[in-house]
Amino acid sequence: MLKRPLIIDCDPGIDDAECLMMVQGSGQFDIRGITAVHGNVPLDFTSKNALFLSKMYEMDCPVYKGAEKAFIQRLPRAEYVHGNNGLIGFEYELPEDAQFAEGHAWDFIWEEAVKQNGELEILAIGPLTNLAIAVMKHPELPKLVKNLVIMGGAAGNGNFGVYSEYNIAQDPHACEIVLQAGFPNFTMVDLNACHMVHLTREECEPLRNLPQTNRFAALCKRMLEFEDKNKEKLAEIGDGFLVSEDHYTCDPVAAAVLIDPEIAQYVEKYVFCDCAGEMTEGQTVIDWLGFAPFKNVKIPVAMDREKFKEIYFRCVKSYDREEC
Ligand code: RIB
Ligand code: CA
Repeated sequence: MLKRPLIIDCDPGIDDAECLMMVQGSGQFDIRGITAVHGNVPLDFTSKNALFLSKMYEMDCPVYKGAEKAFIQRLPRAEYVHGNNGLIGFEYELPEDAQFAEGHAWDFIWEEAVKQNGELEILAIGPLTNLAIAVMKHPELPKLVKNLVIMGGAAGNGNFGVYSEYNIAQDPHACEIVLQAGFPNFTMVDLNACHMVHLTREECEPLRNLPQTNRFAALCKRMLEFEDKNKEKLAEIGDGFLVSEDHYTCDPVAAAVLIDPEIAQYVEKYVFCDCAGEMTEGQTVIDWLGFAPFKNVKIPVAMDREKFKEIYFRCVKSYDREEC
């Protein structure tokens, strides 16, 4: 079966690392490139982490640096969730041959969209600054993107602002540009959708003891240990959903929707991003009652947790290697 040409725009971030593991592990995609964007931590770290992960998961693709800052917004980062280096302190050496590709992320996105002649899919799991710049420089881009899936937005309460989800809060202007750009097949995997699936503590047990020959094993173990240690701290911050004994995560939910769209049921709605509200800046405002004359995104409103679990573990298993 022909592999699906895909670009992943990300801000690794430990859940970005899980997401990349799933996309590569699914075996469904011809990953044309990874574009790094500012987000969980500064671009210097997100880009280096993206490069490291592309090597660890043996993704034979270029890694591009993208935007260092949001269009206007300047907010604190999320070291309290992802650690100072963005990968919860997981230490690594970049292989000798690890180099960033020449050129800007947004130009690569356009060039690859033209090359794939309407077949390109994009998974964006960080602030949307790179994608917004690409659209502003090349307004024809949306017509060439077969499928856009983002992790972002909040149909209910936020996890960074009262009503804003982290990726969108970090660059609401970029989100509004992307929302109104006319992507024909645009799925917004928002915070509510992410909260509909999780892995129970018991289900995570095997993840704590993956065979050492599994290339995801070391980072996965560190992720779960860090999460255990971090829960009390997050409880004080009030990032409520992270305090559960279970493993809740975000970017992997967008990966699962991309890998198997039938994992969810969707509604189509018109959504805009509030870029000026005193208390609501960064809110993805959903026209639930259908006042707007058209719809611009699909929103997952029901998720199949069992299917998510199956996809997650199937992708983890794909990294098992024979004892060397
Ligand atoms: O709100 C969760 C999102 O913000 C995830 O993409 C996480 O990696 C952070 O970027
Ligand atoms: Ca992310």
